[in-house]
Amino acid sequence: MKTVLITGCSSGFGLEIARHFLDRDWRVVATMRTPREDVLPRSDRLSVLALDVKDPQSIRAAIEAAGPVDVLVNNAGIGFLNALEGTPMDTARDIFETNTLGTIAMAQAVVPQLRERRAGVIINVTSTVTCRPLHLLSVYTASKAAVNAFSASLALELEPFDVRVRVVLPGRAPSTRFGENAQARMKDGFPEPYSALVQQVFANWQKETAVTHASDVAEAVWLAATDPSSPFSIPAGEDAVDWYNARAQHLLTPAL
Ligand SMILES: NC(=O)c1ccc[n+]([C@@H]2O[C@H](COP(=O)([O-])OP(=O)(O)OC[C@H]3O[C@@H](n4cnc5c(N)ncnc54)[C@H](OP(=O)(O)O)[C@@H]3O)[C@@H](O)[C@H]2O)c1
Repeated sequence: MKTVLITGCSSGFGLEIARHFLDRDWRVVATMRTPREDVLPRSDRLSVLALDVKDPQSIRAAIEAAGPVDVLVNNAGIGFLNALEGTPMDTARDIFETNTLGTIAMAQAVVPQLRERRAGVIINVTSTVTCRPLHLLSVYTASKAAVNAFSASLALELEPFDVRVRVVLPGRAPSTRFGENAQARMKDGFPEPYSALVQQVFANWQKETAVTHASDVAEAVWLAATDPSSPFSIPAGEDAVDWYNARAQHLLTPAL
């Protein structure tokens, strides 16, 4: 029986990915900053472990408690929307510590066992915001674009050991807790000179009908985990596929 370890399972994509793999008879290590058993169905194939991807000690303890892992899904992440002028450096650091360094630290923690067994997959959840520039998302996009670049290079490095690396790029998913969680970091508001731009950005979102559902992301992660012929980068969601197909072709494909 194969084991998947997923970060950020308390809500949204992580929770749905955990359900998806449980339904398909995998052993699931669902990790959360604050562990809650009640958000997932009871199963003897499920372990719920505490894990904060910003905390090295927490990572060490979770990896030790998890036992052998076949697939790591780096899903935990935080959002933020503001002009650069409205982005405190502490917030920028928090975004990179979580989205970028958290992903790198988790990969580093599992690579030795995957390399030794000459098998396994690391799946990093980034975003289709990396496919084209968007207003008010410079720091968040940079944190995810760095993971795309990291993953492409890591894929080359681990390919001789038969360890795969994949990137899943969701589109905009208003149904998760992402926006609500981001708002806690945005309580200082937007700098006044950007007011018209902010209104325009929110008005444009209202017009968009195609969105991403958590199930789209779970299916893309499943494909990445189970199909060795899956592409390096996999858009997840109706809007994501459109955005991805319109991107500059050279951006996301490593020369495998
Ligand atoms: N929703 C979107 O529109 C969208 C689009 C593209 C990509 N994404 C990406 O998809 C991933 C999942 O987002 P989502 O939409 O499912 O949002 P979500 O509902 O807010 O879930 C994010 C998860 O990450 C966890 N997390 C945050 N900081 C963490 C840390 N330091 N250590 C461990 N876990 C941490 C949260 O845990 P707590 O409950 O403890 O906060 C939560 O479980 C993120 O990487 C996000 O950047 C989201």
